[in-house]
Amino acid sequence: MRAPVHRRRGAARSGAGPRTPGGRAIDRRGFLAAVPAAGLGAALLGGCTPSQGVMADVDRVLSISLGQAESHPSYGSLVTFGERIAEATDGRYGARVYANNSLGDQQETVQLVSDGAIDMAVISGTQIENSSPRFLPMNVPGAFDDIDHQNRVMLDESIVGDLFASLEPDMRLTVLGGYTQGGRHLYTVGGPIESPEDLAGMKIRVQESEIFLRLIRNIGGVPTPLAYSEVYTALQAGVLDGAENNEISYVTQRHYEVAGHYTRTNHLVGFDFLLASTDLLEEMEPRDEQALRAAWEETQSEFVEIWKQETEAATEEMLENGVEITDPDPEAFGPIISETGLSILEDPEDLALYEAIRAVAEDGGAS
Ligand code: GCU
Repeated sequence: MRAPVHRRRGAARSGAGPRTPGGRAIDRRGFLAAVPAAGLGAALLGGCTPSQGVMADVDRVLSISLGQAESHPSYGSLVTFGERIAEATDGRYGARVYANNSLGDQQETVQLVSDGAIDMAVISGTQIENSSPRFLPMNVPGAFDDIDHQNRVMLDESIVGDLFASLEPDMRLTVLGGYTQGGRHLYTVGGPIESPEDLAGMKIRVQESEIFLRLIRNIGGVPTPLAYSEVYTALQAGVLDGAENNEISYVTQRHYEVAGHYTRTNHLVGFDFLLASTDLLEEMEPRDEQALRAAWEETQSEFVEIWKQETEAATEEMLENGVEITDPDPEAFGPIISETGLSILEDPEDLALYEAIRAVAEDGGAS
């Protein structure tokens, strides 16, 4: 099934998408939560709801699935991406952003993009790794020093070119690039975490990924895989003792309301990949495909700065809301974190990719 063509000639075009922190994410599964398969067509055809982005005045509206709330900077960025596509294709294409996982959780939406039912989706590296282990080295602790290093790698065709194209033949997925997730840190309901001993027996939510299971186990906690959309309620209900994420997700998901101790372990610099349907790109006229890719390049390249600013704003918001921020002794977690990253890379191809990533860091930004 392919997303339907929307014709909304005459509809008003709105300006830049919302970027300021909004209220608590509306129903976290969104209005489509229960209907990813049967109701998807109707959902994609439906009118605007607060969990959707701008409906541009265009011939063909591309659907983009996102797990974040509208207050997360990736939402505003994707809305801008859609506006750029509309402008560059002279209205032949535009995009609508479906926030809050309203088209399905990430694992479901990978399949929906692969089937061509959704045009694009933002998917955490750990979820892609479940479909293709070749992405593993991009997700391990210690791969990236910081987001500038990560950005240099992601723009380096000689490192990512083959990897990004590797899902095309079998899964019909094209990786266009993506957004940084920044440094990820721990947060807990009880007291502050200074060392692995403080984590003993604590149930820490992780993404559904072998790396995260191993990491949390090695630093002393009990890893508990759970969908992103379920974390707030699980923390509130006491089913979880903590979770881990960057400052922006912690604030935009309002997890600080239920887990007020934030420990900056910086255990991993994560990445969200933007996947597009390969069939869609192949069906587009070359000038439109190029316009879409150029619109994305511009959007991705400005995001690193947006991320830095929004991380500062989120940190301020945490402090204003009484969050206790702890910076543990780097020796307390650092060595365990790096060993965990390396322990998972056994395949020589994975090690080669990891080494290429590390070489960019050692270049000191020269590439
Ligand atoms: C970050 C990341 C998401 C991911 C989430 C999670 O917010 O950007 O793609 O789903 O972490 O922890 O599940």
